Amino acid sequence: MPAFPLEPFRIKVVEPIRTTDRAERERLMAECGYNVFLLKAEDVFIDLLTDSGTGAMSDAQWASIMRGDESYAGARSFYNLKEAVDRIFGFKHFVPTHQGRAAENVLFSVMLKPGDAVPNNMHFDTTYGNIVARGGRAENLIADVAADPYADTPFKGDMDVAKLERFIEQTGPERIPLGMITVTNNAGGGQPVSMANIRATAEVYHRYGIPFFIDACRYAENCYFIQQREPGYADRPLLEIANEMFSYADGCTMSAKKDAIVNIGGLLCLNDDDLFLRVQNELILREGFPTYGGLSGRDLEAMAVGLWEGLDARYLAYRIAHTRYLAERLREEGVPVVWPPGAHAVFIDARAVLPHVPQERFPAQAIVTALYIEGGIRTVELGSVTFAHRDPQTGAMVYPDLELVRLAIPRRVYTQRHLDYVVEVVKHTLDHADAIRGMRIVWEAPLMRHFTARFALVT
Ligand code: F0G
Repeated sequence: MPAFPLEPFRIKVVEPIRTTDRAERERLMAECGYNVFLLKAEDVFIDLLTDSGTGAMSDAQWASIMRGDESYAGARSFYNLKEAVDRIFGFKHFVPTHQGRAAENVLFSVMLKPGDAVPNNMHFDTTYGNIVARGGRAENLIADVAADPYADTPFKGDMDVAKLERFIEQTGPERIPLGMITVTNNAGGGQPVSMANIRATAEVYHRYGIPFFIDACRYAENCYFIQQREPGYADRPLLEIANEMFSYADGCTMSAKKDAIVNIGGLLCLNDDDLFLRVQNELILREGFPTYGGLSGRDLEAMAVGLWEGLDARYLAYRIAHTRYLAERLREEGVPVVWPPGAHAVFIDARAVLPHVPQERFPAQAIVTALYIEGGIRTVELGSVTFAHRDPQTGAMVYPDLELVRLAIPRRVYTQRHLDYVVEVVKHTLDHADAIRGMRIVWEAPLMRHFTARFALVT
């Protein structure tokens, strides 16, 4: 096999992308308060903001859309989706939701009370936000090695099981209505979690009677890493690895916008009969009837097909190699990227690029801004803007260990030549890193400020 397996597809539909000039981009950035979430997408040349809902659907998915059954209740499309969900995840019950955070919201609304705590290896922003918005506490208990951007270990998303046990003892299991693990760990560099760690985490949760839920957005990419890296899994089919992973849990939430390669959709799966009744009631109130959950029949069909495509071994070999290509090319050019690379994104270590910019001046946000101005590339900050928070006891700001710029790669969208262009732009931007002075916040929302905050450049 070549070092970087070729795209296992050819292109049938194309969408033009627009180039802008530097002066235009400088003006557009100033107008949107240096927050790339507030740019118009048509003003972006290469959009690496997210891998969520931005993938290219296959001809089989588009064909399935024509077969969507739009019946209000009991649609054929629901049963097609159910077949895929049952075989891959193997939980007793499931409901579709319109996306991942809707599944989180429904789950937390029936399980979480103010003052409760939810541990995770690392919560992503919406999970964190959904817990905090309900008066809960979201606790990150990832192994310390994750804080080292360059520690070359195979499963840097692993939970620190000893820390988890201590946390449960200190908090009291009665204050922990559920425990989670996120595969792959998006907030910490897209790093995978090993099967051994999932098993050990489940064992601890269950010993204390705590239900265990997997945040499964990128479960297929995680299964591929297990197959490639974990002893004993090299000859196991990905479906079997997925079945084993979910067999340790009591349920999962999933944003299907990632590994099911759809533009919209999510899932909430669980085993407990009583909990399922409460979930259904909440779903009816907020999302829709349990056989469509806020989606149309055609969305359910596309998800059913996409779940299988996202778990396909040839597709995943290409997917992981495509991302690795970008990471390796950047590293060759001397760009400090989190190592080893994950599956859905490459992460630049902003503190290494801008050692002269302190975290309260948002170095990662400053690089995001510079990359757009330099080459029309939209990336996203996963650092102090997104994750810094006030300590509830002392009121002091707590900054995250990692200050990252994420270059998220939409599935089946950009070619290797697009990635080469990204490398050129990043390199050119970082050659002038000394001139970057950081940012300050002009306005921010009380929760999840990164989506809407406005900034000014520090000069
Ligand atoms: N959990 C993880 C680990 C995620 O990465 C996301 C979304 C969600 C939950 C929520 O899913 O967007 O469908 O509501 N992550 C996207 C991203 C937005 O850019 O990483 P959603």
